[in-house]
Amino acid sequence: MAVRAEPDLVTFWRHDLGDAEAAKVAEAIAQRRLSQGPITGELEARLAAYLGVAHVAMTTSGSTALYAAAATLGIGPGDEVILPNRTFIATAHAIMLTGAAVRLVDCEIESTVIDASQIERAITPRTKAILPVHLNGNAADMESINDIARRHGLFVIEDACQALGSRSAAGALGALGTFGCFSLGATKIVTTGQGGFVATSDPALHQRLVLFRNHGVSSTFIARYEHFGFNLKYNDVLASIGLAQLDRIDEYVAKHRAQYRRYQAALADLPFISMLEMPIDDGRVPLWIEAVCSARDRVHEHLLERRIQTRPFLPDLSESPHLGNDDALFVRSKRFRRDGITLPCGPDLSDEQFERTITALAELRDLPPYGA
Ligand SMILES: Cc1ncc(COP(=O)(O)O)c(C=O)c1O
Repeated sequence: MAVRAEPDLVTFWRHDLGDAEAAKVAEAIAQRRLSQGPITGELEARLAAYLGVAHVAMTTSGSTALYAAAATLGIGPGDEVILPNRTFIATAHAIMLTGAAVRLVDCEIESTVIDASQIERAITPRTKAILPVHLNGNAADMESINDIARRHGLFVIEDACQALGSRSAAGALGALGTFGCFSLGATKIVTTGQGGFVATSDPALHQRLVLFRNHGVSSTFIARYEHFGFNLKYNDVLASIGLAQLDRIDEYVAKHRAQYRRYQAALADLPFISMLEMPIDDGRVPLWIEAVCSARDRVHEHLLERRIQTRPFLPDLSESPHLGNDDALFVRSKRFRRDGITLPCGPDLSDEQFERTITALAELRDLPPYGA
């Protein structure tokens, strides 16, 4: 049933939707289930069981999951939240929407996740929370972060928007802090186009978050408006897609790991490009295929000429003046920003598309070795 708008274009991401999703949507509509209802509840229960947490609350997106988590913890004007310089801007904007400020911390040398050893220096009397991001399914050092948070009386909000399915020795990423926030956006391992959720094992916090998600009220038959909140509710049509997708998460996890290994083998004899390290044998799941390379923009252009889409890494947050951090301080991030590239991937990438990508990259084999 798949229909391709540009059949020869290899897009940087290919998700995998089909008859199972279509059947579930038809079922939801036949039951007149449009807004947030029992199908959303079923998806919440399934996700909580998958992650090994007590509670999950669906939201409209990963961004609103982060916003709801921060707002539920009372984070607001005058507060600061510590987060990594290398993440998608949504992580920072969700915090800024509460009125709080963001304090950025640089990444590790060889990986894009926050360098936990620099966090303590960024703590001020205004700090309320640490917000590590498990970028591309890579794990921030949660043991150190939780220890710092305990010693300083801070909350930990995990941004696991790119990490559903990924695990460390301590458990599922996103299930290790006060709240874990996830995205079901279009390029995620399990997708409903838009959507997100907040995981926690604290029943009181979950209850507060559920109220916040619905303008601070617990029922449609409202006696009084008692708490601040907003409409961040999900809906049963998208939840029905989520259920069908979640049925296949183990298959997707295996596919992502296999794709990573396949790229690793194919790129091994191309010295100008080097994949970012991902400890998949320790439970991590690479959401995307990320590499660093010489002459990154040339690589991107060359592949595009061959109708193959890649995605240069996103900007550092420190480059954005409205976040109020000094860009010159984030030395390690700059290498990833300059050299990073996401190669075509996703559960529906075909063998032919993979081979075309490798062939196009091999045409560049005379570029200088990476890091030389
Ligand atoms: C690290 C990170 N945080 C937050 C978000 C926001 O999620 P959403 O697009 O579902 O709002 C994303 C989305 O890609 C993300 O990658």
